[in-house]
Order: sequence, then C-alpha cells, then structure tokens
Amino acid sequence: MEKKLLVANIGMKFGMCHVEGALNCKDAEIVMICDSNEENLRFAGERYSIPEEKRTTDYMNIVNNKNIDVVTVAVPDQLHVKISCDLLRSGKHVLCEKPLALKREELEEIIKVSEESGCKFMVGQICRFTPAFEKAKEIIDSGTLGELYFVESEYAHDYMKLVDNWRSDPLRHGVIGGGCHAVDLLRWLAGDPEEVFAYGTHRLLPQVSYDDATIAIMKFNENLAGKVFVSTGCKRDYTMRTVIYGTKGTLICDNTSPTMTLFTVDEEQVTKEAEILPVEVNNHNAVKEFEVFADAILNNKPVLTDAREGAKTVEVCLSIVEASKTGKVVRPDYNF
Ligand SMILES: NC(=O)c1ccc[n+]([C@@H]2O[C@H](COP(=O)([O-])OP(=O)(O)OC[C@H]3O[C@@H](n4cnc5c(N)ncnc54)[C@H](O)[C@@H]3O)[C@@H](O)[C@H]2O)c1
Repeated sequence: MEKKLLVANIGMKFGMCHVEGALNCKDAEIVMICDSNEENLRFAGERYSIPEEKRTTDYMNIVNNKNIDVVTVAVPDQLHVKISCDLLRSGKHVLCEKPLALKREELEEIIKVSEESGCKFMVGQICRFTPAFEKAKEIIDSGTLGELYFVESEYAHDYMKLVDNWRSDPLRHGVIGGGCHAVDLLRWLAGDPEEVFAYGTHRLLPQVSYDDATIAIMKFNENLAGKVFVSTGCKRDYTMRTVIYGTKGTLICDNTSPTMTLFTVDEEQVTKEAEILPVEVNNHNAVKEFEVFADAILNNKPVLTDAREGAKTVEVCLSIVEASKTGKVVRPDYNF
C-alpha cells in the first residue's frame, strides 16, 4: 500500500471543513488537530473521533513534528503568513485559508518562503472548486460566450454577528476578507485587471471602522471591463451572483443557486431563449479542494492558487481599498 499523506489541521472553526476534506481523501490520514482554544479543540476532536493524544493547543507541536507532511491553516487572517512560513520552513506542505495576507509587505515574504521551501503551498480560494463557477470556467474556455467584454461578481454576506473579533481589525477590510472571493473569481475567469477605481459607503456595520459596502470598477484590457460589489452588512442571504458577458452569449451564475442561466445566439446573432442549467450547490467544496492539493503533492503537479496567485488577488483587493480611500484610479502592482 502507498504511504498516506500525514495531515495536521490548525484552527477548529471554519477549519473543520479541512478536517472533512482530509477525512474524505483516500490518500490522507489525520495525525493531529490544533486549536489554541481548548473548547473548540475538544469539540472538533469529539466530533471527528480524534483522540486526545492527537490534539494540541500549540501549533509549534506541529511545526516540530517531523512525521507530518501536510498542514491546513484556518486561523484569523492576521496569522496566515506567520504560521504558514513557520510550517513551510519546517518542510510541510501547506493549504492556507484566504486571504493570503492583509498587508502588501507580507506578500513578498510568503512568496519567497514558499518558493524556497521546495514544498507545495496553496491558498484556499474555494470558489475555484464551487460547481457553478467550475462550470462557468468550462463554458468560457469552450468559447460558447465568444470573447468576454464585461464581467461582474458580488460578495454580499451579512456580517452583523461576525465582526466583534479579529474581523473588525481595519486591515481586515471587507473587500479583502470576503471580497477576495469575488476578486479572485474574476481574475480566474477574466485575467488580471490593469486598473481599478472604487467608491465605498459605511451604513450598516457601526462596530467596524471600514466601509461595509464597496463598488469597484476595473479595466482588464481595452476590450474587457469589470465590476466587483462587496457588501458585508447586507440584509439578505449570502450570494456571489456573477454575470459573464461575451460577444456570443451571457452566463448568470451564483454559488448559492441550484441553476445557472445561459444565453447564446442563433445564426443571425440574435439571442435565443435562455437555457436553465442545473448545478450542485456546494459553496465550501473543501473536499475537492483538499483532493486537488493532495494530488499536486503526490504527483508533483503545480498548484494553481500558489503564493504568487494568492498575492495577486490580495494586491487587487488592496488596490480597490486604496482607490476608495483616495478617489484615484489605482494600477495594481503585480511585481512581487
Ligand atoms: N473560504 C471561505 O469561504 C471561508 C469561510 C470562513 C472563514 N474562512 C477563513 O478561515 C479562517 C478562520 O476563520 P473562522 O471563521 O474559522 O474564524 P474563527 O475566529 O471562528 O475561528 C478561528 C479559530 O482559530 C483558532 N486560533 C486562533 N489563533 C490560533 C493559533 N495561534 N493557533 C491555533 N488556533 C488558533 C481560534 O481559537 C478559533 O477556534 C480565516 O482566515 C477566514 O478568513 C474562509
């Protein structure tokens, strides 16, 4: 039998979905879980039947354990770079939650450390594993929509009960923390924006100092423009409604809808009746995400959302925040 990847998971709130990812992977075995909060650690340990001797409150016990191959990291965003670098330097492959970092200065560090480590590093940009968005990518790449001329995505999520902790740090602006999903999705589907401009408003979350709604417009190239809308105080269910406009068709999709709508044209280039395509709703597809990461490690394949790719998404988010504060067009700097 092939040797299994020995896995540790850090952060036992959202990070429990990484535990599920590893438990569902035939090539992996969980050898340790970690949370600095004893109650959260105990809860996860009992939920997944992970015995006490495999639980720790100190992630350095994972860093210093030579028998661990892969570690997932789902701790507050401010700790992503520090903990990931410690793990990479000790020879572990790392799957770290988004956003990769909250500050420009940290981007170069994580790129350097991950590239020098010889280990695989993946940022968990989970929308790339959302069935509706995977299907959208496939439809775009097949040429069905013709050439793209406008793309838009939104991240609307009510954080009213979520921001009385590390999420209220001004560095964790909504565009970076949650909006990075919509930005990363558009980058994946349409490429890197050359210029961004943005306006923000602050009406719904008095407990934070940053804007809770931001509209950003962006130029990808002379023929392709885009828009990202982020609202972290919205009064509605979570949505990432995304519309892709091409010269031969239009696609409307969402990570929380069981259908997507596809418009295409007839021989005379006239819009035909819409096709309604069924799609599985799975907006946190951590099982597929971990499977893809394990495959990259075991078969030495490239990781699509490596540190450089995660850094580009953060750079666009930071540029949007900068544009909304300065009222000036910002050109993201991708020279890391
Ligand atoms: N991909 C997504 O859609 C998605 C959704 C939610 C959260 N996230 C990301 O996951 C990460 C965690 O978010 P969350 O909602 O679970 O936050 P949370 O605050 O609910 O939980 C964080 C957990 O990490 C633990 N922790 C904090 N510092 C630690 C340390 N030094 N060592 C070990 N454990 C530590 C805390 O005790 C807590 O249990 C964040 O980066 C967040 O942005 C991603």
